[in-house]
Parts: sequence; structure tokens; C-alpha cells
Amino acid sequence: MAALARQDADRDAPSPVEYAAAIDVDTGIAVKADGQTPAAAQPAEPLVTSLKRAASTTPRAFRDLLALDDFERHAKRRLPHMIFQYVAGGVETGTAMRRSAAAYSDYAFLPRAMVDTSARSCATELFGKIYAAPFGIGPLGGSAFIAYRGDLVLAEAAGAANIPMILSASSLIKLEDVHAQNRDAWYQGYLPGDQNRIDRLIDRVERTGYETFVVTADTPTLGNREHNTRSGFSMPIKVTPKVLWQSVTHPRWALGVVAQTFIKHGVPHFENTEAERGPPMMSQGAVRNTIARDKLSWTNLEAIRRRWKGNLLVKGLLNPADVEIARSCGADGVILSTHGGRQLDHAIAPLDVLPEIAANKGSMKVIVDSGIRRGTDVLKAVALGADFVLLGRPFMFAAALGGAPCVSHAIGILKDEILRDMAFLGANRLDELGPEILRKVERRV
Ligand SMILES: Cc1cc2nc3c(=O)[nH]c(=O)nc-3n(C[C@H](O)[C@H](O)[C@H](O)COP(=O)(O)O)c2cc1C
Repeated sequence: MAALARQDADRDAPSPVEYAAAIDVDTGIAVKADGQTPAAAQPAEPLVTSLKRAASTTPRAFRDLLALDDFERHAKRRLPHMIFQYVAGGVETGTAMRRSAAAYSDYAFLPRAMVDTSARSCATELFGKIYAAPFGIGPLGGSAFIAYRGDLVLAEAAGAANIPMILSASSLIKLEDVHAQNRDAWYQGYLPGDQNRIDRLIDRVERTGYETFVVTADTPTLGNREHNTRSGFSMPIKVTPKVLWQSVTHPRWALGVVAQTFIKHGVPHFENTEAERGPPMMSQGAVRNTIARDKLSWTNLEAIRRRWKGNLLVKGLLNPADVEIARSCGADGVILSTHGGRQLDHAIAPLDVLPEIAANKGSMKVIVDSGIRRGTDVLKAVALGADFVLLGRPFMFAAALGGAPCVSHAIGILKDEILRDMAFLGANRLDELGPEILRKVERRV
């Protein structure tokens, strides 16, 4: 582990232009007090070193949050078991969830040395917009029941960092309010196979000003989420003695999220599943819209394409044959995903189908999610042909732990990792990375 030799440990909070607050003993690389490299000509994109941010500038509450997995560990203590499990869990044996993440370990890097990467940037173009990084926040249903005003928190942090955030159909805050918070947010639909209802929803989303519509295709029915049943989580939420006990023993969640929400905003409703406001999350009607989801078909996608003029993506595809159909229906992009291992157990890892799908993508964008936790994961996906990636759980846990500042911290960690790893790979831009920087290896670690 890199040891840090603080040169001026007793100094007050340093100004952003001060250099060399610390030297890494292993590498001898100087780092500014804010964790950045003192580059002679500082490029527009701030650069980072192999060091973690200097402790003096990291808010105390975040000092133990050094990597995205740390957010889950901390959230486990903060949230009632049923809420933590709802977010963290995968279906049945958990194989799809584990496999999605483990697939990244099947590739090793072939780094390039002695390349001037002092001007590197991970800015990425997607649908005509330049984002600050090649990752975004995937749709997360029920966010506002996990973190106070969760969808707004995620939208705010994504907007501030200039990365995309996708609002879930199962969200509890009006899509109009989320759009007011972040005009670049995307909308994700859980659609019934009823074109009339779909059309009215599309009109609402379009009227509000959303430019990107994501159709989630891997939820004809709900995955077998035994972890929810075991932990006491149900939809609609039932107030059982188990649920009550978990709530009173986690007052920060019970008061900070639930009580505050009910007092300030009333009973949370599924606001955005349909054109009209949906039922309260405590009511039996909450399952209403799921009824016709197994009727959704490519015919609906064709009709959506005719009506929706913005960017259209299909999320939750894994079979190259389906990607081809999505393309023939006129989709602008696909999101290869196992839904974070929350739908079909033993589904193939998105990374394992990525090279084949990317080879035939043409002008369609290929986005990947499920199990991405490190900058190295992002770079492996990019090298294998992904245009962009999404993450879910780490940002949800960050929102639960510390609202928008904590989500910003998580975004910063991942972006720093990407920029640091680009230096090791000898890349100044992400489009310089291709499969030649990777070797498929037998998983040994
Ligand atoms: C709590 C939670 C809620 C989710 N809700 C939705 C949703 O409403 N719509 C959707 O398309 N995907 C949903 N997903 C899947 C995520 O968008 C994404 O595909 C997945 O979380 C990526 O895997 P990761 O969490 O390992 O990064 C949800 C995932 C979680 C963890």
C-alpha cells in the first residue's frame, strides 16, 4: 500500500492551487492537498494521481468511503435489513448477480508504458452530448423510500457531475419534478403491452421535455426475489411486527426518510409508471401495472419508435438476436444488462456477450451494466466495445448514506479510478482503448 508522507500536516485547509501537500513514498509522485497532480499545464479535465484524496480535504463522513464497495458495507449498517436487502439482493442462487460482476475478472490488462498521458480525459460523447465520464446512474425504482427524495438526489448529483441519470418508472417523485432538477435526466418505462397506455405515457414524458426514453425489456414478470420475502420486504409494504422492529431499530431511516417524506410530501405514490399518477406504494393497486407487462412485444417497440422522436433505448437485452430486432425496430441504443442479477438467475454476464454485440452494432450505441464497481471494469467494457456503462446499487447506497454530496463523492471515486487507470494504459482518450489492451485469462484471483 502506498504510504503517504505528509509534508505539512498541520496546515489549515489548503487552497485549490497549492501543490505538493504530500508525496507518495512508493512512487515519489507529488500530490496537491486536494488529491490532484501538480501538472505544469493543467488541462480542462483535472488529473489525479495514484493516491487517494488527501484526508484533510475529504469530509470526515466520507473518509472510509474509498471505493464503491465501501458504500454497500456502510449502508448495511444504516438501513433496515429489508431495505438493504431490497437493494443488494439478487434472485434465487445469486448466480446471475455474481457472474455479471465476476466476468470482469476474466480479463487482464496489457498496460502501455512511457506514453505522455498528462492531458488525458474520460469525457465521452453520447447522443450528441459530451458527458464528463463514460458512466451514468441506472434506473432505480423506489429510490425515494431508500434515501430521502432519492430520485432528486441522484438527479442533482448526476447533473452536477455532468453524467446521465435515468429516472425509473417505479419512482415515487413526479417525473416533472425530476426533470426540473436535471433537464438531462432520461426516463425509463416499465410498459404494459397496451399501446394506448404506452402512448399516453410517451406523450407525458415528451411534454415534460425528456429527450431519452428507455424501454426495460427484461421484466415480463418480476424476478423470484426470495431475499425480499425472507427480509420482510413486500410491495405493497405490509407493516408487520418484523417491519416495525427493523424500522424502530433504524431511526435514521425511519425518521430521516419515511417520517420526513410522509410529513413533508404525503404518502408516496408510484408517480411515473403511467400517464396518470399511480397508486400509493402501500396499496394493493401498486401491482396493477405489472399485470400486462408480459404482453409487451416488439410490435409495441415499433409503435413507440413511430411516436417517440427522441433517443430510444432498450434495456435488459443479452441475446444478440434481440439486439438485432431492436436495431430493426429503430432503437438508437441497447443496454446489455442482467438487471443487476435481479431477474433471470443464471443469465449470461453482459460482458460475455458484449464483444459479439459490439462487433455488429453499426451506429447503434451499446451500453452495459450489472456488477460494474471499478474504473478497471469500466475500461474493460469500453475496450470490448461498450459506448457507455451504467451503475445502480453503489449510487443508491451513496444516496442513502449522505444524499447528493455522497453520490457526488461516489461519482468522483469512479472517475478518478478511470483517469488513473488510463495513465497506466497509456491512453489520453477512451476511444484509444480496444481489445488489444486485454487478454482473456483463466480466473486465478
Ligand atoms: C434497488 C434497485 C432498483 C432497480 N429498479 C430498476 C427499475 O426501476 N428499472 C430498471 O430498468 N432497472 C432497475 N434496476 C436495475 C438497474 O437499473 C441496473 O440495471 C442494475 O442495478 C445494474 O447493476 P448494479 O446494481 O450491479 O450496478 C434496479 C436495481 C436496483 C438495485
